[in-house]
Amino acid sequence: MPRDIDLLTSNTLKHLRDRWWPDAFTTFLEDTLQPLPDKRILDVGCGRGTAELAFLERQNSGGQNHGGQAASAWLVAIDIVQSRVREARAAAQDRGLVLPVATADAVRLPFARASFDASFAVAVLQHVPDPIRVLRECVRVTRPGGRIVIVEPDNGARYFFSSLESGRRAFELGTEFFAALATSAGDPADPVIGPKLPSLFLEVGIEPVTVQLFPVPQVRVGAPAPSVWDARQHAIAAVVSTAPSEALERLGRDYLKAVGRYRDRATAAGPAFVEIQHTILFAAIGQNAGEEEMPVIFSHENEKR
Ligand SMILES: C[S@@+](CC[C@H](N)C(=O)[O-])C[C@H]1O[C@@H](n2cnc3c(N)ncnc32)[C@H](O)[C@@H]1O
Repeated sequence: MPRDIDLLTSNTLKHLRDRWWPDAFTTFLEDTLQPLPDKRILDVGCGRGTAELAFLERQNSGGQNHGGQAASAWLVAIDIVQSRVREARAAAQDRGLVLPVATADAVRLPFARASFDASFAVAVLQHVPDPIRVLRECVRVTRPGGRIVIVEPDNGARYFFSSLESGRRAFELGTEFFAALATSAGDPADPVIGPKLPSLFLEVGIEPVTVQLFPVPQVRVGAPAPSVWDARQHAIAAVVSTAPSEALERLGRDYLKAVGRYRDRATAAGPAFVEIQHTILFAAIGQNAGEEEMPVIFSHENEKR
C-alpha cells in the first residue's frame, strides 16, 4: 500500500488517508479490537473496506502475531455511500472473502442493541454534522463493557516546511482554496476533532481507556521526481475542475500556477531542496460504560408465591 502523504494537495488528512495505512495501524486495530473467533465487530463508515482487507491480508499471510484470527471474527461493515459499499464487497470477493457490508447511516445503525462486542470508526466523525449521535449509536450497538475505537485526525496539527518560498506560498494558497471549497460546500467537518474524542466519549457514556497518536510524516530531500509533480498538479486540477463558483475556480487556478512555479524552482534547486510534511491521527480507545442487563430472577409472581 503506498504510504506517501501530500498536504500540498489536500486540506485535511481525509485526502491522505487512502494512501496512509501502515502495518503498525492494522496491528493497533487488531490489538485493541481483538478480532478473535466468534467476536462480532462493526466498522462504522468502512469506505472501501481498507480495515477489513488489511485484516484479511494479515490472515492470508499467516498474520504477524494474530495468525488467522481476524477472519474468524464476525466483521460487519457499513457506509453511507453505496458505491463504496459495492467496492468494499467486490474487493473482499476478489480475495475470496464474504464481507457482510451494507449501506447505512451511522446515525441510524440498522442493528439491535448490544449486537457487537466492539465497534470502530476511522476518519468518519470528522465528516458528520453531529458526531455525538454517531457515538451514541456506537454505544447502543456495542455490548456493555465492549470496546469502542474512534480514530480521527487533528488537521490543526498539520506542519509543512519547504526550503523554498514558492513552496510555502503554494501551501498557503492550497490551504485557502480548500478551506473556501469546504465552506462553500457547507462541509460540517470538524477538522480538529481528534483531540476532543475523550471528552466526547464521556458525554455519551464511553469510558476513555487511552489515546494513541499516529504521526503521519514525510521528508523529501532533493528535488522530487517529475512523476510527483505530475501527480500533484493532476490532483489539484481535478479538484479545481469541480469548483462551484468563478471566484473559487480563479483561486484554484492561482494555486495550480503557484504549484507550477514551485515545481520549477525545486527542480532548479536540485539536491538543496527540502520539504517536510507532518500531521497526526488520534486513536481514542474506550469501553462502553453501560451496565449489563441483569437476568430477571425475581418477579411479583414469585413474590406472591
Ligand atoms: C475518510 S473515509 C474513511 C473510510 C474508512 N473508515 C477508512 O479509514 O478507510 C470516511 C467514510 O465515512 C463515510 N461516512 C460519512 N458519513 C457517514 C455516515 N453518516 N454514515 C456512514 N458512513 C459515513 C464516508 O462515506 C466515507 O466512506
